[in-house]
Amino acid sequence: MEELVSRIQKDGNVLGEGVLKVDSFVTHQVDPELMEKIGARFAEVFTESGITKVVTIEASGIAPALYAAKQLDVPMIFARKAKSLTMDEELLTSSVYSFTKQVTSTISISRKFLNNEDKVLIIDDFLANGQAAKGLIELCRQAGAQVEGVGIVIEKSFQDGRQLLEDMGIRVVSLARIASLADGEVAFREADA
Ligand code: G4P
Ligand code: NA
Ligand code: NA
Repeated sequence: MEELVSRIQKDGNVLGEGVLKVDSFVTHQVDPELMEKIGARFAEVFTESGITKVVTIEASGIAPALYAAKQLDVPMIFARKAKSLTMDEELLTSSVYSFTKQVTSTISISRKFLNNEDKVLIIDDFLANGQAAKGLIELCRQAGAQVEGVGIVIEKSFQDGRQLLEDMGIRVVSLARIASLADGEVAFREADA
């Protein structure tokens, strides 16, 4: 997605350790106009897939997921990272290991929001090692739902996430793909859409 790539070139900052800071338009302050276009692009790519739910994980996956869901005219569900006080009903849960933080956390979605008739589009802002997306896929599969694909705003192609998801038989569609963040420069490769 050309507009997203230009925006990363203009406003993205490379931190050491292979991290891209995009807090002025994705991960902290959010640009609604850009997010709406991102959501619309995901919706366009998956328009023939019969999507019934869009699933993401809090926090920064919510903005693109919500616009995709709006465009597809289906609900958006965000997995929670902490147990909510009011989540007393049955939960789908899976553990997510963060290589970055070196901790395992539990993510969950109420069982009542996903079932075996659902066709799910998973959305997230970043794909790095793929552990968050893998956790979301596991939640969907526990519910018997079909995962039609994973839509990613920014893929760090020099990490293993995409391969991990493709090895699980999952279609991955990334709107920006970053080949390298070496020497403080963002090098892109051809995106999926
Ligand atoms: P993984 O799910 O791909 O395995 O991700 P990893 O553990 O490596 O990353 C942990 C968190 O850092 C995730 O957010 C992920 O989206 C984010 N992240 C990974 N690489 C980058 C990067 O280069 N730049 C930025 N800005 N974020 C990155 P989180 O903390 O779980 O979620 P959220 O609450 O911030 O949405
Ligand atoms: Na995220
Ligand atoms: Na994030």
